[in-house]
Amino acid sequence: MTPTTPDATAWWRHAVIYEVYPWSFVDGDGDGVGDLAGAITRLDDLAGLGADAVWFTPWFPSPWVDGGYDVSDYENVDPRLGTLDDLDRLVREAHQRGLRVVMDMVANHTSDQHPWFQAALSAPPGSPERSRYFFRDGRGPDGSEPPNNWICGFGGSAWRRTTDPDGSPGQWYLHTFSPEQPDLNWGEPSVAEGVLGAVDFWFRRGIDGVRVDAAPAMWKVDGLPDATYDPEEGFNSRSWVDSPHWDADGIHGILRAWRHLADSFTPPRMIVVESVVSSPDRLAAYLRPDEAHTAFNFDFLYAGWDADRLRSAIAEAIPAHASVGATPTWALGSHDETRVVTRLGRGDTQAGNLAFDHVEPGSLDRERGSRRARAAALIQLGLPGMACIYQGDELGLPEVMDLPPEALATDPVYTRTGGAARGRAGCRVPLPWAGQQPPYGFSPNDAQPWLPQPADWGGYAVAAQRGDDGSFLEFYRRALALRRRLGTGDLADFGWVTTDGPVLAFDSGRLRVVANLGIGIELLDPDATVLIASGELPGGGLPPDTTVWLSR
Ligand code: NOJ
Repeated sequence: MTPTTPDATAWWRHAVIYEVYPWSFVDGDGDGVGDLAGAITRLDDLAGLGADAVWFTPWFPSPWVDGGYDVSDYENVDPRLGTLDDLDRLVREAHQRGLRVVMDMVANHTSDQHPWFQAALSAPPGSPERSRYFFRDGRGPDGSEPPNNWICGFGGSAWRRTTDPDGSPGQWYLHTFSPEQPDLNWGEPSVAEGVLGAVDFWFRRGIDGVRVDAAPAMWKVDGLPDATYDPEEGFNSRSWVDSPHWDADGIHGILRAWRHLADSFTPPRMIVVESVVSSPDRLAAYLRPDEAHTAFNFDFLYAGWDADRLRSAIAEAIPAHASVGATPTWALGSHDETRVVTRLGRGDTQAGNLAFDHVEPGSLDRERGSRRARAAALIQLGLPGMACIYQGDELGLPEVMDLPPEALATDPVYTRTGGAARGRAGCRVPLPWAGQQPPYGFSPNDAQPWLPQPADWGGYAVAAQRGDDGSFLEFYRRALALRRRLGTGDLADFGWVTTDGPVLAFDSGRLRVVANLGIGIELLDPDATVLIASGELPGGGLPPDTTVWLSR
């Protein structure tokens, strides 16, 4: 790999990016669903928090089988969220506040309602319309077996059989996610032309960057051979190497075309990839100088509250990124992950993902989870690279664990596993802004939000936390202000202070970050200046589940 000297001042190398799931952020028009007009009213809050950029999950028209990740029109806004005019206003108003806007581009698949897929369904096998997707004859004498053994990310086979116009069973099509999300064939030039045309459309509207959804799924090995994994084991992109439908080499040619487009703008647009792959080196391949700029780091996110695992996630990521001149993006949560307070409040912080895995929640200790979530935030925000904050994590929101089945059923992970996996609704509950009862200022006129909010969320509301020095929100604001003032340096400035044991300690720019993941109090250098601590420091010691930033 060619080491490069990238522009160290590029904004994404140091930015704090705030993830907005627009359906649950703020409801401006009182229908119980968040929207762009609502989001505009809270841009001051995001700028005031200390964010540099905002990433919006998909805003496109969508039948909403998968939270907007099933797109039926790449060049418009879903009417429930607003209009293109609202979007233009959002970008303008964000820019006026110094916030950059990053959009989500779902390009591995469309909705089954997209005109391309509808045309493919009514066109014959072998037609150009069908070549935009993966239509294949089934196996077995009557074609009743799926074309191969690939599995779907949300459970079950990755193939669905179609019905021909005369009612007889027809070809099958590939869907890495829900059957309503058919995979696009990026080997077909009109797909690249159409999707990149849409990316260009948004960049011209002033969008500053793009998140590439499910990037490793975007290329499939020719001939679509069977995978070698055991389909019964379930979707596991983190351990798949050489899977014929994940992280196949062809993805890199696609990313180069995206980068070429991004670089043709002034200023250049940013590309962040969602690439859950088997190793830091495989991830670095997505970040070569002519591919994406950065990627979410899932090893860090999934490390749990374990010093060794966190240390190795960081220790492996830094040289891998440095080798290609890129910087990491560190996150503790997203609209796909169990809320960090709940994850870290479990007895076993690594016992599977509550959203996707078929695991029992086990005992939850919200107080311990909150303590660790703050401590984890100071580790995350102290690292060099971009930091991504998922909406509500700055409020310390826990996962909502008592949603009724109809609320859980808004996520195909829940429905396709027959309820064996909880799915992601619990981290997508609309934010509390003010007041003591639902909708906590999320909707005007006391409209009921699309997912029910818990009765005890009054104390988490922004208005309740604002100005309270002990609150999560004010803690985040202080940490972000310090980070902006002092910086976390470049990857080359990073160094370990401890390399084993329960204390994670590193130097990053002008900060020394010391986190205690053990069970005893650790001594701190009495001469060190504490810039911020995630909890109390009794007698100057560092208690368990606590992180400090010291000045260097
Ligand atoms: C990743 C997105 O973050 C997730 O929400 C979505 O379900 C899948 N990709 C499929 O688009």
